[in-house]
Amino acid sequence: MHSSANIFAFLLIIVGFITVRARNIPPFLKICHRNDPNLNECVKQSVNSLRPYLKTGIPALQIPPCEPLRVPQIEISQAVGPISITSTYTDIEVQGGTNFTLKSVKIDIDKDRVRLKLYLPRLEMIARYNMNGRIMLLPITGNGLARGNFTDIEVIATVQGERYQSQKTGEIHYRVVDFYVDFDVGNANIYLDNLFNGDGTLSNAMNLFLNDNWKVVAAEIKPALENTVSDIFKTFSNKIYSKFPLDTLLPP
Ligand SMILES: *[C@@H]1O[C@H](CO)[C@@H](O)[C@H](O)[C@H]1NC(C)=O
Ligand SMILES: *[C@@H]1O[C@H](CO)[C@@H](O)[C@H](O)[C@H]1NC(C)=O
Repeated sequence: MHSSANIFAFLLIIVGFITVRARNIPPFLKICHRNDPNLNECVKQSVNSLRPYLKTGIPALQIPPCEPLRVPQIEISQAVGPISITSTYTDIEVQGGTNFTLKSVKIDIDKDRVRLKLYLPRLEMIARYNMNGRIMLLPITGNGLARGNFTDIEVIATVQGERYQSQKTGEIHYRVVDFYVDFDVGNANIYLDNLFNGDGTLSNAMNLFLNDNWKVVAAEIKPALENTVSDIFKTFSNKIYSKFPLDTLLPP
């Protein structure tokens, strides 16, 4: 009697433990083992299975829907080089961000580093803009709607993380400290509405000029854009990492 009660208690603990463990891992996370010889492939699939959840958002982690991705504001100001401009973009909406194809994943467990290559077939962007300055000697000023379509985008991202101990639980977590991103856009079409206070002739000429020279313009604003993308990614992934200890996300 005594010993069967013990066994019963033991079973209860085991079942309780398993239930808690299972409940701890939400359906949007596909768990990979860090000693898996095919770890890179496993993580690739794990990121792919996260995609539909990113589209609609993950309320439990306060991750908003990413289709479209909404960014409240980006400021791009620079005073040196061929583009000297003060510009602000607000209410930015980007469609197509979750249509990425993950081309490769390389994980370096010892260095807490991940390298990703992805391909985005098409991004459509719309935002309110306000700008003032010079682009390659031409004055530019305007405020209104900015639209842009970008295709064939190759992205290489390096994620540098670190491990830390949670003060609340004492468990080891991972967090992203640096996110380096480099991208190459195949083609771009942009349109800035209401340039030069709505002067149609100047506005059309400037939009033609911008589309003819978009590679130069893109190269100039790349650093500011990379910083923004980096911040968004860091915030998203750290929301997931802070909720789950490393041994849950990447068990031995
Ligand atoms: C993303 O993919 C979906 C499904 O294939 C498609 O309907 C949508 O138009 C794509 N988004 C963009 C911006 O191309
Ligand atoms: C972007 O693509 C959409 C849908 O294909 C189109 O309606 C829009 O005019 C395009 N915008 C630009 C700036 O080319």
